[in-house]
Amino acid sequence: MDLTDVMRTAFSARAFTSDPISDETLYRILDSARFAPSGANHQGWRVIVVRDASIRRQLADICIPVFRYYRAQDDAGEVPFNPITPTSVSPEVADSTALRYPMLEHFDDPSKVPLVLVVALDLKVVTAFDANQPRIGVISGASIYPFVWNILLAARNEGLGGVLTTFLAHGEKRAQTILGLPNHYAVAAMLPLGKPAKPLSKLRRRPVESFTTIDRFDGPAFDK
Ligand SMILES: Cc1cc2nc3c(=O)[nH]c(=O)nc-3n(C[C@H](O)[C@H](O)[C@H](O)COP(=O)(O)O)c2cc1C
Repeated sequence: MDLTDVMRTAFSARAFTSDPISDETLYRILDSARFAPSGANHQGWRVIVVRDASIRRQLADICIPVFRYYRAQDDAGEVPFNPITPTSVSPEVADSTALRYPMLEHFDDPSKVPLVLVVALDLKVVTAFDANQPRIGVISGASIYPFVWNILLAARNEGLGGVLTTFLAHGEKRAQTILGLPNHYAVAAMLPLGKPAKPLSKLRRRPVESFTTIDRFDGPAFDK
């Protein structure tokens, strides 16, 4: 595919056909993704291809209550898990909120979710220039998410799809134990991949001039 087409059509797929992804295809995807940049070129990524059904089930079971909370906050009009504004949703309300996320319920079934990758980041090799800031860190993520996104772009280029999920990080300690990850490996993403069951619908994204200004945040909008 043409690069622009790949970038403009890499949608989040959460339902897949039963077509398997061969090891050759996965290797090709990772072999392209590895050209991603990272701080000081440390390439602190690790990828775990999760084949074992019971491990997949345990990972999904971490995500299910987290996603119920996400749904409950979203239903309440909040930005879920926001680092600035605390939630007003109680755990009891979250627990009784419908999941509405079929993929998690059959996460251990390879005929429904052909491939699961967990991507972890070695925090021992991360340079975080914002570690001194009194806010949540964002720079460390830049040493892993270009790689993660490259995986999804390369998958798209193979006619496959997937979704960048991060809810597993909410239960990072448990995930580290299940996957045998050392403590200094942050769980950055979990990527289900497969052939999308539904065709692409047009991606809803804001136009350039809505988020680009000249000289200052309150400067005039940049337009062509
Ligand atoms: C940083 C980040 C975290 C995300 N975490 C999750 C997640 O935990 N679970 C999930 O289903 N989707 C997750 N997503 C996918 C987003 O919901 C998705 O990219 C967004 O809704 C746009 O969807 P579209 O590309 O199909 O338009 C995440 C995406 C990003 C970039």
